[in-house]
Amino acid sequence: GGNAFATEKHKDILNVSHRGASGHAPEHTLISYDMGEKMHGDYIEIDLQMTKDGQLIAMHDEKVDRTTDGTGFVKDYTLAEIKQLDAGSWFNEKYPQYADPDYAGLKVPTLEEVFKKFGKNNEYYIETKSPEIYPGMEKELLRLIDKYDIDKETLLVQSFSPQSLEIMHKLDPSVKLVQLLSYKTKAVITDEEIAAIKEYAMGVGPNHTYLNEEYVQKVVNNGLEIHPYTVNDKERMKQLIDWGVTGMFTNFPDLLHEVKKGR
Ligand code: G3P
Ligand code: CA
Repeated sequence: GGNAFATEKHKDILNVSHRGASGHAPEHTLISYDMGEKMHGDYIEIDLQMTKDGQLIAMHDEKVDRTTDGTGFVKDYTLAEIKQLDAGSWFNEKYPQYADPDYAGLKVPTLEEVFKKFGKNNEYYIETKSPEIYPGMEKELLRLIDKYDIDKETLLVQSFSPQSLEIMHKLDPSVKLVQLLSYKTKAVITDEEIAAIKEYAMGVGPNHTYLNEEYVQKVVNNGLEIHPYTVNDKERMKQLIDWGVTGMFTNFPDLLHEVKKGR
């Protein structure tokens, strides 16, 4: 490919703050989302899990172990119990170079709290995680999207589960969907796969690791958006933009912002 910076295409790349600015602050906390905004992320990425009492919370893993001081499955915790957990101290221990005493004792946010804090006109990129263990999570997600009047022009809902996206699509065809994909070797996508995805989704989100220019070009030329995850270094960001991606997930929205500014 040519030089991305001979063109203007780097300027409108979607900058998605992955779990917030999660390279700088504990993932899926209000502080992390806020830093994503301040660092010029366009979208706040939110992974969803569901509590025993049916509340959607922002957390990546099915278990609380990695990102809190608790143990066990989210589905076995009530929201009140989740709220007892410390969702920040682990980060200070794991990343001393980014540690901040303010992170100690941060709480796990609910999706409602995120919508209340960041508002209906913010840009949310929401993932239904483990939908097979949380029947009804799509319906509850839509209920909250409608309750908080979230702007559906910009809203994106993503999942690795085509079934979960099909449920979303049936419940509300106006919600824009992105099919996540995970490749363990050189990424290849067939015409049939593209056609099937286009039935319900406007884009794909593959892991960036095994992407190649041919794959990116094929997806884009078929009219799909492509937002690779999770890209944390500037040289790789530039290469992906050069190949034609239309956005990307990053733990460092500040770095992608610099790349978009040509720095
Ligand atoms: O949603 C994009 C990317 O976050 C998918 O992988 O495991 O980080 O949710 P994961
Ligand atoms: Ca995710």
